[in-house]
Amino acid sequence: MKFFIDTANLAHIREAQELGILDGVTTNPSLMAKEGIKGEENILNHYKAICEIVDGDVSAEVIATDLAGMIREGEILAALHPQIIVKVPIIKDGIKAIKYFSNKGIKTNCTLVFSPGQALLAAKAGATYVSPFLGRLDDISSDGIELVRQIVEIYNFYGFATQVLAASIRSTQHIIQCARVGADVITSPLESILGLLKHPLTDLGLKKFLEDYNKLNS
Ligand code: G3P
Repeated sequence: MKFFIDTANLAHIREAQELGILDGVTTNPSLMAKEGIKGEENILNHYKAICEIVDGDVSAEVIATDLAGMIREGEILAALHPQIIVKVPIIKDGIKAIKYFSNKGIKTNCTLVFSPGQALLAAKAGATYVSPFLGRLDDISSDGIELVRQIVEIYNFYGFATQVLAASIRSTQHIIQCARVGADVITSPLESILGLLKHPLTDLGLKKFLEDYNKLNS
């Protein structure tokens, strides 16, 4: 399972990269706004800065919602850096744009996916990644992990190459649940990734090891 970090915060991206487990980054317009990145030139420069920190795929989202606009923005983003993945929403023109990019060899991440049917269309259009938003489904008393499980099942059944990128992850437990249902990728805030490290028995065990060592060696 690949680990992506879901942020535009350069310090968080660096910290995850330094851990040695980072496979890529996902961003969206809200995450860019959270970091105060505005204006086309600044936004493009920020994507380049992210690409310089990580080795893997970096999702950069189009703002346009019409086909011509998505193609124009997507081509600019893809030309920015070889690691850029063009992030496109699952709307009618989005599917057409994904097909267009797929034919041109430009990699895509189909975003804002909330149903297996949307994921099926994304795969048919040739998306590189599909992003089911599991946390936002949980927020409305639906079952986000069940959606990830169903998409994995459908893609495996037909052998689709599209990778299931579980997004809108809100907790460490979400990451574990995604691993259990076979998500290809999770994208998560740094905090939820670091949460995987935590166990009170690890802390207690380490404390005891050091105490016992120091009894004889100090
Ligand atoms: O990258 C998109 C997704 O991860 C958004 O997460 O927490 O805003 O639902 P969230």
